[in-house]
Amino acid sequence: MKIVVIGGSGLIGAKVVEHLRARGHETIAASPASGVNTVTGEGLANALAGAHVVVDVANSPSFEDDAVLAFFQTSGRNLCAAEKAAGVGHHVALSVVGTDRLEESGYFRGKIAQEALIRESGVPYTIVRSTQFFEFVGGIAQAGADGDTVRLPPADIQPIASDDIALAVADYALAAPINGVVEVAGPEGMRLVDLVQRYLTATGDGRKAIEDEQARYFGARLNDDTLVPGANPRLGSTGFDAWFARSRAVAAR
Ligand SMILES: NC(=O)c1ccc[n+]([C@@H]2O[C@H](COP(=O)([O-])OP(=O)(O)OC[C@H]3O[C@@H](n4cnc5c(N)ncnc54)[C@H](OP(=O)(O)O)[C@@H]3O)[C@@H](O)[C@H]2O)c1
Repeated sequence: MKIVVIGGSGLIGAKVVEHLRARGHETIAASPASGVNTVTGEGLANALAGAHVVVDVANSPSFEDDAVLAFFQTSGRNLCAAEKAAGVGHHVALSVVGTDRLEESGYFRGKIAQEALIRESGVPYTIVRSTQFFEFVGGIAQAGADGDTVRLPPADIQPIASDDIALAVADYALAAPINGVVEVAGPEGMRLVDLVQRYLTATGDGRKAIEDEQARYFGARLNDDTLVPGANPRLGSTGFDAWFARSRAVAAR
C-alpha cells in the first residue's frame, strides 16, 4: 500500500513512518521540510497521487488561539480536497481524548474544527484520540509555572508514551476505516498534579506542583473526567518510570 504521513517528520510522525516501512508499505514522510505543505497546498497533489491511506499527525507551528484554528481549518480543507481528487480510501487523524470537552481552549477549538472537517469530508476515516504524551508533561509544567510552584487544575490523567501511540496509529492505518473515534491511553491513571510532580522530581527540578481550583489547562477548566478515556480504550504498555528511563537512555546515546 502507498501511505502518506502528513507531519511525517514530527515526534509521532517519524515513528509511524518507521512502523509502516518496517511492515513493507511504501510510506511517504510528508511535511514542509520535504516540500509538502497542507496550508499552502504545495506538493500535496503529487504526494497523494496513488495513495491508499493518509495519516495526519501534523501540528500547528503556533499555539496562539487564532493561528491554531486557522492551521487546522486550512490544512483540513486542503487535505480533504486533495484526498478526494486522489481517491484516497482511508484518512487517519491523531486527536486528543476529551477534545469535545475542551472547547474553552483555543488549541482544542482547532482540534474540534479538524475533527468536524474529517467527519463531513466523505472520505472514510478513523479519528484516533490519544491522551497526553509523557513527552508533553514538561510543556504542561511550563504552562502552569508560577515562581517556585506549578499550578494545575485538579484532574485525573492517563498519559501515554509516544512509542505506544505511534504503534497504535500505524495499526489503525493498516486496518479498515472505523468512521468514528477510537481512544488510546497509557497503562496507568493518576492525578495530574502527581504526574507533573513525578516529572519535576525525576528531572531534578525543585519546583512544587500544586492543585489550584482556579488554574486552567491551556485555557480550559478541567474536572476529573475531562482528560481520561471512556470505556475500553486501547492501552499502551509503557508506564512513567519505564518511559523516563528509556528517554534518558536515548538522550545519552
Ligand atoms: N502533545 C500531546 O500530548 C498530544 C496528545 C494527543 C494528541 N496529540 C496530537 O498529536 C499530533 C502530533 O503531535 P506531535 O507532537 O508529533 O507534533 P510535532 O512533533 O510538533 O510535529 C508536527 C509535524 O507537523 C508538521 N507540519 C507543520 N506544519 C505543517 C504544514 N503546513 N503542512 C504539513 N505538515 C506540517 C511538521 O513538519 P516540519 O517538521 O516539516 O515542520 C511536523 O512534522 C498533533 O495533531 C496533536 O494534536 C498530541
